[in-house]
Order: sequence, then C-alpha cells, then structure tokens
Amino acid sequence: MSKRRLFVTTALPYANGNFHIGHIMEYIQADIWVRFQRMQGNEVHFVCADDAHGAPIMIAAEKAGKTPQQFVADIASGRKPYLDGFHIAFDNWHNTDAPENHELAQDIYRDLRDAGFIATKTIEQFFDPEKNMFLPDRFIKGECPKCGAKDQYGDSCEVCGSVYAPTEVKNPYSALSGATPVMKSSEHYFFKLSDPRAIAFLEQWTADAGRLQPEVLNKIKEWFAIDEDGNGGLSDWDISRDAPYFGIEIPDAPGKYFYVWLDAPIGYLASLKNHFSKTGGDFDAFMADPATEQYHFIGKDITYFHTLFWPAMLHFSGRKTPNAVFVHGFLTVSGEKMSKSRGTGLDPLKYLNLGMNPQWLRYYIAAKLNGRNEDVDFNPDDFMARVNSDLVGKYINIASRSAGFLAKRFDGKLSASSEDGAALLAAMQAALKPVTQLYEDRDYARALRDIMALTDNVNAYVEANKPWELVKQVGQEDRLQDVCSTCIQAFRLLTLALKPVLPQLAEQVEAFLNCPPMVFADLHTLLPNGHAIGSYQHLVQRVDVKQLDALFEVPEMAQEVAQALPAPGGEDMADTITIDDFAKVDLRVALIQHCEAVEGSTKLLRLTLDVGEAQTRNVFSGIASAYKPEELIGQYTLMVANLAPRKMKFGISEGMVLAGSHADEKANPGIYIMTAWPGATPGMRVR
Ligand code: MSP
Ligand code: ZN
Repeated sequence: MSKRRLFVTTALPYANGNFHIGHIMEYIQADIWVRFQRMQGNEVHFVCADDAHGAPIMIAAEKAGKTPQQFVADIASGRKPYLDGFHIAFDNWHNTDAPENHELAQDIYRDLRDAGFIATKTIEQFFDPEKNMFLPDRFIKGECPKCGAKDQYGDSCEVCGSVYAPTEVKNPYSALSGATPVMKSSEHYFFKLSDPRAIAFLEQWTADAGRLQPEVLNKIKEWFAIDEDGNGGLSDWDISRDAPYFGIEIPDAPGKYFYVWLDAPIGYLASLKNHFSKTGGDFDAFMADPATEQYHFIGKDITYFHTLFWPAMLHFSGRKTPNAVFVHGFLTVSGEKMSKSRGTGLDPLKYLNLGMNPQWLRYYIAAKLNGRNEDVDFNPDDFMARVNSDLVGKYINIASRSAGFLAKRFDGKLSASSEDGAALLAAMQAALKPVTQLYEDRDYARALRDIMALTDNVNAYVEANKPWELVKQVGQEDRLQDVCSTCIQAFRLLTLALKPVLPQLAEQVEAFLNCPPMVFADLHTLLPNGHAIGSYQHLVQRVDVKQLDALFEVPEMAQEVAQALPAPGGEDMADTITIDDFAKVDLRVALIQHCEAVEGSTKLLRLTLDVGEAQTRNVFSGIASAYKPEELIGQYTLMVANLAPRKMKFGISEGMVLAGSHADEKANPGIYIMTAWPGATPGMRVR
C-alpha cells in the first residue's frame, strides 16, 4: 500500500481569549485522526494558527492598551500549556497576521479578480463619528424595533428573539463611544458567489462522494434552495472593510482591508508554508501535487465558510480544494451550553492543574465522538464511570494482573501461548482489523466499544485460568507463564489499538514491554517467544470524585448564596441526568376512562387509563385526598408507562400518574395532578 500525503487542520481560534473545552475537543478529535494516519504509515502535516484579524480583536486590544499585534502575541504565548497538556501534537502553530498570510491572501485575491469573481458596490452603513470608523453590527446598540427592549445588539434582540438589520434599531448608539451613529456610504468589494459558475461548481463539489457528511450536505442544500418568489440561494459575499481595521490590505484599493473571514482560512495555507520553510519542504510542489489530500476539522457553526466560500475561493483562484471537511457538533457540559459569564463549563487549564490525567479526557471524548455532526455532552458521573470501569478496570487491569508473576517467577520472559491462548490472540487480531476503518471514519465511539468488548474476553480468560491460584500449585509453572504471557500479548494488541487516543500511555507500555513504537502493521505480529518485558509500574490512576468536585466547584460566594435559598418545593434538586437517562422514562398522555374509590383505603383511587394500547391500564394513585373520582373521569393526565408493574394489596398497578406536591405535605398540603393541553391524544409520548 502506498503511503498517503495528508494536510490536516483544525479551525483557527480567535486570538482574543484562551482555549475553552470546545476548542480542546476539536483538537483531540483531529489529533486522534492524525496519530492514526501516522500509525498507518502515512505522511501527515498537521497545522493550526491564531486567527488574529478583525474589528473585535482590534477593539479589545485598544481597551487593553496594547497594539493588536502585541495583544495577539500575548494570547499566542498562552497556547502551549493547553496543547502540550492534552498531548495535541500540531506540527506548526502560526498566526494569520504573518507575512505568509498577507502574501497568500493578496495572491488569491488577485487571481479571483483576474477570473472575474470580484465586484464592487457602494453600500450604506452606520458610522461612529467620534471613533471615525464604520461599526460592525455587534457594536451598534439600541432599542429592539419589534418589542422596544433597550440596549439590544444591532442584529438581534435577546428579549424577544427577533432578528433585524442594524438600520432598523431605534435610537441607535455606538457601543464604542456612545455616540449616535450616522449613515455613511462606502465602496465595498464582493466575492461573486452568485455567479452561475460558482453555483454550478459548489453544487457539484459539495455533493461529491466522501466530501461532506450526509447531514452536513442536507443543510447546505437548504442554502442553495431558491423559493417561488426567487428568494434564497447564494448571494455575493462582502469581503472588504474600511480603515481603521486590523487586517490585510486589499491590493489596488487604498484604505480597504480584507474582512477577517477572507484571510482566516488562507491562514491554513500560510501555516503549512511556514511549517515547510522550517522543515525544508516545498510548499508549492506539495500543494500542486494532485495526490496531496487536504482535510479540515471544524465545528458546525462555521460550515458555511468552509463548504461554500473556502472551496470557491480556492477553485476559482486556480488552487486545490479540500478533499473533505469534517464537521463536529458542540460540546455541552452536563447538558448546558458553555458560558463564561455564568461560570459554567470545564476549564481545561484547571483540569490539568488539578493533576487530572489528560488521557482520561481524550478517552472520554473519543468514546463520545462518532464522526457525525452531533453535540457531545461532558457528564461528570459518566466520565468517572467510563474511565474507572472501562479504561482502568477492564484494560489496565489485564497488565497489572499478569506482569508481576512474569517478573517474579520468569525474569520477565514470555513463553509461547498454548492452544487456548493462541486462539484468543488470533481472534483479537482478527477483531481489531476493522478498527482501522472506524478510525479512518472518525467513529471513535464504535472503535472504543469494539476494543473494550475484547477486554472482556481477556478478563474472562484470566478469570477462567486464575494465575493467582496457579502460582500456589505445584507443577503449574509452565501454565502460569503461558497464561500470563497470553495476557501480556493481549495487552499489547489492545494498547496498539488504543494508541491514537492514548499516545503517552502507549509510550509507557512500549517501554514496559521493551518494544519499538507500535504501528498498525504490528497488529499481525506477536512478541517473540522468550522476549523479556520490563517491570510493571502502575500506568493510569482512577478518577477521584474529589477531583471532579474541585473541577466544577463554584466560587464560594455563589455557593453561599445558593445555600441561603430555601430548597425549591422543600427538597434539593436531584443530580443532573443525561438526556439518555431521561429517555429511559416512557411518559405518555393518558385518558382517565374510569375512576373509583378503593374500598379499604382512604388514600388511593383506582384509575382506568387509556394510553392508546389495545387494553386499558389499571393504576392506583395516592390522590384520594385531593380529588373526587367523578372530577377525574374524562380528563387527560401524564403517566409513567414503563414502570415495572407493582403488586399492591388491592391489585396490580400498571404504571404511575404524575402529580406535584411539596416535600413536607403536612405543612404544605396539596396534590396537583398533571394534565395535558387540549389536543393531546392517548398514547402520545411526552419528551
Ligand atoms: N476564528 C474562527 C475560525 C476560523 S477558521 C479559518 C472561529 N474561532 S472560534 O475560536 O470561535 O472557534 C474555533 C473552533 O472551535 C470552531 O471550529 C468552533 O466550531 C469550535 N467551537 C467553539 N465552541 C465549541 C463548542 N462548545 N464545542 C465544540 N467546538 C466548539 O470560529
Ligand atoms: Zn425585542
């Protein structure tokens, strides 16, 4: 098999803040893929850069009393601890204000202009007469034209949710100076995305096999669509901004700069060029080679830029386009969007500073990523369970249970596996082969599931052979060495398969096993008979719940405030569950067909419920103190339909109806049965 040459990037983070856990997730996803490709013997160039330009960064720098260059350099100097800390091995980290990017952006622009893809148009925009600059939408504030809410942004209202043009805002003011903006016209440069050539090219390019994930392509088709009134479809893209602007000057257009999103993706090429200038590679030859493969890892919010603007810019300037764009969803933490202002989220640096193992996070994220554009949730309990029971409990344990006997009894020497062990290993080798395709397809979740299923087989083999008993039996030395050797061989195969995810651990294992760095081709081999392994040192600790508590610890002040409030409804909120946990509860709309008192009980009513099934359900409910049977007949309510049937003194209860009540019913009496809004029909699922 000939080796592939790959150029791989992740999105360039804005240079106006430190990394958050969403960035780290993207880098881990790409890093695993890159390490996998290298283990396949492919040549990979993996680069990124800071996205330095644009009005927000210019303004933030001014506020900080720095030049934009200094501001960006300071942010850049903080990147290393995160990248090293999570074992993310970019070959190069550059920035979009570097000379390579200025040159490349201007070259690409000239080529686009010569091909007839640039147009100019005079447009009117808000201008801050005090700051002497045109205002980006984000820096215009005023009253919402729809609901009148004050201090809303120039493009959308946070109170009523409407979206509008900045010119519609009432009593607008500049967020920079407070001055009332004036309308001013200026000539802007546009990239003609509406050109029939561009549309024809993109419709083809985006639909090419293997280029985009099906769910991403579906979204893009909506962007192409033109409705009956002729609205929709691709429109020309405004690529210029007027001075003062932190960016790259447009050739032959004094006072005009490229909009940051024009030069940002070109930064991918600039970083690669800079990388080659350091390693002696030939950038032009590499990019001109049709065999070179180019891949971009991005989040779903920047799909439009990467699947429409970027390939069109490259193609019509006569350059190679990406082979594929890999789109991932967003990371949430315990089901919540990350928000700096509310102090939620998972601070990656705090994670490292608490001494938490970066490979736990790599393992957990990998176990959640399936290669589709879906959001991923970090849930602390789930995290702890997966790391402790799968990674440590199932996988690391294989080595810790067998290595000691080999060292103490056999000078660390392996013997050949006898029939049962050899069969186990051969089956593992066969089962691990398809894992390479799962890595290639970025379905790490499935890859790890399949690998972990194999650890179960090995652990069953250990349980069946009990080395700790063999060691006490006379005449069982050979069998002991055989069983422990098989375990070590199995551990090596598993480590190889996990190496893209757990690179540091794999390195430790290579040292412990006395073997050279493992690649996927080594899957077909075993360590030779008589090979001596080194001494085992514990490889990975378990997650301690105290570490997680510390990681998510809310600053003391906030905690005191929370404690001072009475618990809602008389009881504390239950622990967070995942959407998967919730989905286990099958809630249904139920029609109360019949209801009657229960002889011998003052608390219970007997309900006959229609939940859309062939037969009705019989449910006892402790609501007799609050409702008369005739009040309930004909009403709709909600029931837990998959609760295990319960045998009661009066018969079998086949579910539970939902009602609200205070924890202290004596002090705060009242039970309130849930009911459905009109229109709901029996059997509808409640979610
Ligand atoms: N500067 C632009 C990208 C230019 S690429 C030529 C940008 N920067 S960003 O810092 O806002 O985002 C960088 C990457 O992080 C993007 O791929 C974005 O989708 C990703 N993420 C931002 N928040 C995220 C999560 N909550 N979860 C996962 N990824 C997230 O956009
Ligand atoms: Zn509003």
